[in-house]
Amino acid sequence: MRGPSSSSSVSDGTNRSWLAQGLLAGAAVAAAAVAYTVISRRRSARLRSHVVGIIPARFASSRFPGKPLVPILGKPMIQRTWERAKLATTLDQLVVATDNEKIAECCLGFGADVIMTSDTCRNGTERCNEALQKFKKKFDIVVNIQGDEPLIEPEIIDGVVKALQAAPDAVFSTAATSLKPEDASDPNRVKCVVDSHGYAIYFSRGLIPCNKSAKVNPRFPYLLHLGIQSYDAKFLRKYPELAPTPLQLEEDLEQLKVLENGYKMKVIKVDHEAHGVDTPEDVEKIESFMRERNLS
Ligand SMILES: *[C@@H]1O[C@H](CO)[C@@H](O)[C@H](O)[C@H]1NC(C)=O
Ligand SMILES: *[C@@H]1O[C@H](CO)[C@@H](O)[C@H](O)[C@H]1NC(C)=O
Repeated sequence: MRGPSSSSSVSDGTNRSWLAQGLLAGAAVAAAAVAYTVISRRRSARLRSHVVGIIPARFASSRFPGKPLVPILGKPMIQRTWERAKLATTLDQLVVATDNEKIAECCLGFGADVIMTSDTCRNGTERCNEALQKFKKKFDIVVNIQGDEPLIEPEIIDGVVKALQAAPDAVFSTAATSLKPEDASDPNRVKCVVDSHGYAIYFSRGLIPCNKSAKVNPRFPYLLHLGIQSYDAKFLRKYPELAPTPLQLEEDLEQLKVLENGYKMKVIKVDHEAHGVDTPEDVEKIESFMRERNLS
């Protein structure tokens, strides 16, 4: 902590008569307290310590209307996601952001905090942003937790938060896991490549990297991008407004807009079998996966 003599608010009084000393001592204590507050504010700004987890959940979905409420082994999918996310230790607050009364009612029923967002949000990121604006409290980091990943591990949520806290030059963090070679040529599995410090270089639906044979190399550790994302809160305000970029449009991958605008993104590597629920058929798949592993 800075000493009182270096504190500008008392230094102009140091040459006055000793009569002022009592007053000055008081001022010094006050100034020190101010200095301390300033320092600790700076520190928390650096650490981005206030974190909110948001689970965006919309009812309308062309492929799967009412998806968040679909029961998975008897429990609504959104509740499963919420229960997993609730176990993350880095979140100061966790909310479901939805445009739908039924979803809101269901979530309030199992004890979740809910923020109503407009039905004009065009994607989960916009919904997170709108929800963020409705908080009185200021948050430094927002984690966008996809409601359709009911088996998300809380450790992955904590992992992306900590990665962003440890990389002040990044505005975004996300996760990737190893991709089975047989899935590598599937354009619905998004691949990513990272630099030696874990910053994203590129995301693609195509095979990256691609060796001279132009075939999948069963010995290469390809990375599969997972849906979880965390953002610097200030960046999140700008993100939906950033104009679409050529690579983003060509690959139809939102996150490329971040890289194309020159922002840095951290990618953590995790062990995770992805079980995203996109279609009604996926429900059966995840249920049999859970039965096999005695997950309830
Ligand atoms: C490229 O991938 C093929 C498999 O498709 C593999 O046989 C070959 O060894 C790889 N080339 C290099 C240089 O690793
Ligand atoms: C969300 O939707 C809006 C409008 O289509 C678009 O501008 C934006 O790039 C999308 N994605 C993100 C991450 O905001």
